[in-house]
Amino acid sequence: MTLSASARKPWAALVDAASEPYRKADRFAWRFARGKLSLDPVFRHLLSQGLIAPHARVLDIGCGQGLLASLLSACSAFAQQGQWPSQWAAAPTAARVTGIELMPRNVARAKASLGSAADVVCGDMRHTPFPEADTVVMLDVLHYINQAEQNDVLARVRRALPTGGSLLLRVGDAAARPRFLASRWVDTLVSWVRGHRAPQLGRSLAEWSSQLESLGFEVCSQPMSQGTPFANVLLVARARA
Ligand SMILES: C[S@@+](CC[C@H](N)C(=O)[O-])C[C@H]1O[C@@H](n2cnc3c(N)ncnc32)[C@H](O)[C@@H]1O
Repeated sequence: MTLSASARKPWAALVDAASEPYRKADRFAWRFARGKLSLDPVFRHLLSQGLIAPHARVLDIGCGQGLLASLLSACSAFAQQGQWPSQWAAAPTAARVTGIELMPRNVARAKASLGSAADVVCGDMRHTPFPEADTVVMLDVLHYINQAEQNDVLARVRRALPTGGSLLLRVGDAAARPRFLASRWVDTLVSWVRGHRAPQLGRSLAEWSSQLESLGFEVCSQPMSQGTPFANVLLVARARA
């Protein structure tokens, strides 16, 4: 999605506001927040399209330093001050975020920056219980575990959601080569630097969709790597009755 010029300004202001809490944690965390929120198309897409509802209980699995939680709290402030762009869907005001994150350093950054604005738990998604949620967000995290583990996590996500609840899942589309290979190469490098397991072999978009459908989701998808060399897709999966 390309943002109109009038929507770019509020987005830049939201990026500033959502990055600000990280200044007190450390300069790296602040710069990282600014860079990621500015360059990654997924965050403004989630907001402008209303994929997170007001008052939603959000579970962000593999939440990193808690960027989504920080962004959602900036959204509430913007809406209260009448600064929410009128052409976007309703602001996700008063959303409550629980994050699960493996790396203690990321959790420490999230806690130091966000305080009580989010509950961030240090844990492995394969073993950490999932609280009930209206929206589960998983951005670029499932590829760190193997396929059987992915299926198990997705089944547990489905059980954490009510009918009509949603999973917002970004993954690579293994059928979209050579862009998928570019993402894998970067993931392998990042995993090595961060001390994670090497990324697992991927699935095609059709395989991801069919797995989610077999677990009781209705799925639609769209490319979500505009401006990058990657083959990422956002799957919006609604829990069926
Ligand atoms: C590529 S980052 C994405 C962070 C965040 N979702 C975002 O979009 O800003 C992937 C995150 O998943 C975390 N992660 C990897 N394996 C995990 C696991 N087994 N359980 C929980 N988090 C995990 C990593 O530590 C990292 O912070």
